Order: sequence, then structure tokens, then C-alpha cells
Amino acid sequence: METGRAQRKPLRLIAAACQGLGIGKDGSLPWRLPSEFQYFLNNVTAVAKPGKINMLIWGKLCWYSNPEEIFPLANTLHVVLSNTLETVPKHAHFLCKDFESAVLLASQPPLSDIVETIWDVGGTRVYEAGLMHPWCDLIYLTNVMATFDCDVFFPEFDKNKFQLQDKFPGIPSEIQEENGIQFKFEVFKKRTDV
Ligand SMILES: NC(=O)c1ccc[n+]([C@@H]2O[C@H](COP(=O)([O-])OP(=O)(O)OC[C@H]3O[C@@H](n4cnc5c(N)ncnc54)[C@H](OP(=O)(O)O)[C@@H]3O)[C@@H](O)[C@H]2O)c1
Repeated sequence: METGRAQRKPLRLIAAACQGLGIGKDGSLPWRLPSEFQYFLNNVTAVAKPGKINMLIWGKLCWYSNPEEIFPLANTLHVVLSNTLETVPKHAHFLCKDFESAVLLASQPPLSDIVETIWDVGGTRVYEAGLMHPWCDLIYLTNVMATFDCDVFFPEFDKNKFQLQDKFPGIPSEIQEENGIQFKFEVFKKRTDV
């Protein structure tokens, strides 16, 4: 990693997964949970300091699965990962060929002064790269407490290294329910001693 001028940033994964860690089907979400999607939007747009922004890293298919009406999204810049796209997709800001280039973009001048948090928003390969990254400290993983037919999955991860938090500041701990589907907002924190 070319860390020469890089300014370390918190790097976080955010996903919702059902039983068996399914996250997607036929290029979109397997469920309709508007309040869970709003939770995603609230987290990725939240900044602690006025004037700061968050950098979101998207896989190409995940990017194109977005409903157009969510843009422009406050306090965010968007990097799409692809080796086949030649131009930056509509509403996105940058195109990178690999995960590390996107991280460096957020952590080196000129963006390093304004980027607060890097959010890894999937899909599978993008999550895999994020989980292995030394700056990854938290996984926001909504537990959708039901079974859905899925063709895309969140990667298995080490629950000894990333530990489920009993309570996490600002995150409701009670079970939620929408459209007859129960779900729970969960946060896993990386141990610093492993
Ligand atoms: N439930 C959730 O929270 C959640 C979150 C995210 C996504 N999803 C779902 O997951 C599905 C999309 O995810 P997916 O895993 O199938 O696809 P994806 O990661 O969104 O897109 C795959 C494409 O992105 C590019 N890419 C991905 N990782 C890359 C990397 N590390 N370096 C360079 N390029 C990279 C490649 O594009 P090129 O082929 O152009 O090189 C690859 O073919 C959808 O169904 C979506 O709804 C669900």
C-alpha cells in the first residue's frame, strides 16, 4: 500500500443481510424495507464535523441498483469500482480500478482534508476488500431475521476479530419490524488486540 501521504481514515462496511448472509437477488435487494434503507442513508450521510464529507465505495452493479431519486445525497462523494467502465457513471464522482486506489483517493490530498469516513457499501468483492483492509474498524450489518432467496452474499468474517456490540452509540438496539419482516441493527467492532 502506498501510504506515503495517506491520512488514515475510519473505514466502515454497511450492509443488510438475511439468514445465510444473503444480500441481493437479480441485481437488487431481496426485500422491501424502506426504514432499513433510510438507516443506511442516515449512516452514510452523517458527519461529526460541519464541512466534512464521507466517501462511499461502490461495486458497479451495486451502484446501478440505486434508485435515482436518492441523488444528490448530502455530504457524500461516490467512487465506483470497475475495470470495464470508461466514464464515471451519472451521479458518481470518481471511477477506480481497485479498492486501494479508492481508499488512497479519500486519504491523500486534495480530498484527505475533507473526507471524514470511508464507507464500503458493497457488493461482495468490495466487502471482501474492506474486511481485509487495516483501517476497517466497524461493520454495520443489519440482521434481517428471515430467509430470502439470494444470489449475492456478504462474506463470512471472523466474529472473534469483529465482535458484536451489545449496545452501540446512536444505534437502536430493539428489534424492528416492517412489512411483517423483523430486523435488528447490529454493529461489529474490530478488536485492536488481534
Ligand atoms: N443488502 C445489502 O446491504 C446490499 C449491499 C450491497 C449490494 N447489495 C446487492 O448486491 C448485488 C450487487 O453486488 P455484486 O457483488 O453482485 O456486484 P458489485 O460488487 O456491486 O459489482 C460487481 C462489479 O463491480 C466491479 N468491482 C467490484 N469489486 C471490484 C474491485 N475490488 N475492484 C475493481 N472492480 C470491482 C466489477 O466491475 P467490472 O466488471 O466492470 O470490472 C464487478 O464486475 C445487488 O443485488 C445489490 O442489490 C446488497
